[in-house]
Amino acid sequence: MTSGTEQHDLGEAVAARVERRWATLSIVIVGLLAGMAAFIGIHQATMPQGRVETADPRTLHVSGEFIESNLGTAIEADGSVTVRAIGQQYSFTPQCVVVPANTPVTFRATSADVVHGLLIEGTNINTMLVPGYISELPIRFSAAGDHAMPCQEFCGMGHQGMWGKIKVVDQATFRGMMATRRRLTCVD
Ligand code: CUA
Repeated sequence: MTSGTEQHDLGEAVAARVERRWATLSIVIVGLLAGMAAFIGIHQATMPQGRVETADPRTLHVSGEFIESNLGTAIEADGSVTVRAIGQQYSFTPQCVVVPANTPVTFRATSADVVHGLLIEGTNINTMLVPGYISELPIRFSAAGDHAMPCQEFCGMGHQGMWGKIKVVDQATFRGMMATRRRLTCVD
């Protein structure tokens, strides 16, 4: 038979062994997570979306899809509508966007400088505009009316003044407004 002291020593030894095992496991887990974070950071394995489109913020105004004359609302061959916009400190271009109600609308936007946010109040449109990347979101407005479009990412001292507007009009009004134009905005 073992004495009380021997039993006590045995219990202590078991506890110490279990503690050591658990400490080793914890260190392995922490090391694994740190390793994964380092790998993802080094190889830039994280991207904002599964499907990534890029746009060079330095040449946005010079050429390509986001050149100023191509911004605003455009009608596609299938009758849907595409809105192209840029966020920059501290405004959106165009500042006022017109779209038709009950029509599929695709927003395509990017940033010319820092990270901005694009949020359309009363809808589920809420995304970041990251320089270098194009954010694309589909939406369908069910009724005519105005929606505020604030920047919802802190982008500098003028952030709180960065607001745009979405004007939803009925389809006939939209067709009339669009009749003589290739791109439409409601900026005066
Ligand atoms: Cu742009 Cu906040």
